[in-house]
Amino acid sequence: MHAETEAAHHGTAEIGVTGMAVMGRNLARNFARKGYRVAVHNRSATRTRSLVQDFGHEGTFVAAESAAELVAALQRPRRLVLMVKAGEPTDAVIEEFAPLMDEGDILIDAGNAHFSDTRRREQELRARGIHFVGCGISGGEEGALHGPSLMPGGSASSYKALGTMLESVAAKAPDGTPCVAHVGPDGAGHFVKTVHNGIEYADMQLIAEAYDVLRHAVGRTPAQIADVFRTWNEGRLDSYLIEITAEILAHTDAATGEPFVDVVLDQAEQKGTGRWTVQTALDLGVPVSGIAEAVFARAVSGHAALREAAASLAGPAPVALEGAAADRFVADVEQALYASKIVSYAQGFHQIAAGSQEYGWDIDLGEVAALWRAGCIIRAKFLDRIRAAYDARPALPTLLTDEDFAAALRDAQDAWRRVVVTAATSGIPTPGFSAALAYYDSLRAERLPAALIQGQRDYFGAHTYRRTDRGGVHHTRWAQEGRPEQPAD
Ligand code: 6PG
Repeated sequence: MHAETEAAHHGTAEIGVTGMAVMGRNLARNFARKGYRVAVHNRSATRTRSLVQDFGHEGTFVAAESAAELVAALQRPRRLVLMVKAGEPTDAVIEEFAPLMDEGDILIDAGNAHFSDTRRREQELRARGIHFVGCGISGGEEGALHGPSLMPGGSASSYKALGTMLESVAAKAPDGTPCVAHVGPDGAGHFVKTVHNGIEYADMQLIAEAYDVLRHAVGRTPAQIADVFRTWNEGRLDSYLIEITAEILAHTDAATGEPFVDVVLDQAEQKGTGRWTVQTALDLGVPVSGIAEAVFARAVSGHAALREAAASLAGPAPVALEGAAADRFVADVEQALYASKIVSYAQGFHQIAAGSQEYGWDIDLGEVAALWRAGCIIRAKFLDRIRAAYDARPALPTLLTDEDFAAALRDAQDAWRRVVVTAATSGIPTPGFSAALAYYDSLRAERLPAALIQGQRDYFGAHTYRRTDRGGVHHTRWAQEGRPEQPAD
């Protein structure tokens, strides 16, 4: 196996990758390691050369020094992966390559694009005869190299030309199934990836809250909490994020000898995909309160000046649980974490169902759960249960009412409430646990105070309301006391 120049191998590469930052580089290596001939290109050729120099022995790379060379190196129909920054850089690269491509060729955007950009690009390129595949990819650098979870959208026929290759580089679930499937047309893949990230934010926030209450209500050290997480990772919470959290909590900072978590500035950053999830959910009218609280919690943490100004506000001393009470509380937190996690996923899957409906994507929710089982950041045992829930009832209105999840929530709810109460009386913020519990109680409530809100709207704005005892739209003449309510126009 060796690197080859483009001139010698005109039209022989089975796939091309442009953008040799770490993700592009690793994905190209992954294809090469699976035996595909990969044409590689970067705006500055130094990176392409260094890839070939460092990893040429892993497979067959065709180094292209220009866009035209890259396109010429590809077999037809051409399959070209764009691994560049989302937003304008992606548009610029599309404009560089599309004019060089022919009808039936396939451009694959594997960046973290906004699904509405993908929809626009797909439509524009379709008009030019080019298939545009917005492909969500998760698993970071390691995933790109060893097997990511892949969420391709675009036309079904483009998947026919790509599926085998994607399946060979994708992560494999424990049962051996590749973590890739045609998610749906145009922007469906990037939409699902965005929701994946929203759920990722929620998972991370809930785990962080579990750590925080264990630390401050029970007085456990980070190393002790690492042990708690390790134990949880052997049960139903078994997941990549719990596993790495245990490692992070057990880590000691070399410079200070302090727990690593204590020397890190407590201001969480984001690149914005969690925010997109929430913005999109608002547009679709889907309540993703757990995911939204996770995004807001990062925002609160980053407002340093605001936090400093508010630091002197009154609050209680945390309860200090000890002995058997402390052990019971640890078990309660596991229940609260599991229940809140079910809620986040229920909200995320509701959003996918709503997006699918709105854009006519016909997304198979069970299949989405299946392709998140390995490779991606939210990979977890738990996803098998979600897939089973949708396999049993594809039209399940919410994951919360799946028989198994409903039973888990019933068993967890007392503990979940105790954790939220203890956190509130201790002054420990648990926006994720609390929002999840409020969502659960809202959905199960026989009557919501929304009736009163309708009354208020009708009072100040004659916005009308509907009644429980008869049909039609009604308005009450509030200013004229004693007058019967009137049907609206
Ligand atoms: C993945 C991740 C990845 C994401 C980073 C950082 O699935 O591999 O979701 O796509 O960009 O984890 O995200 P934030 O900077 O927004 O936390």
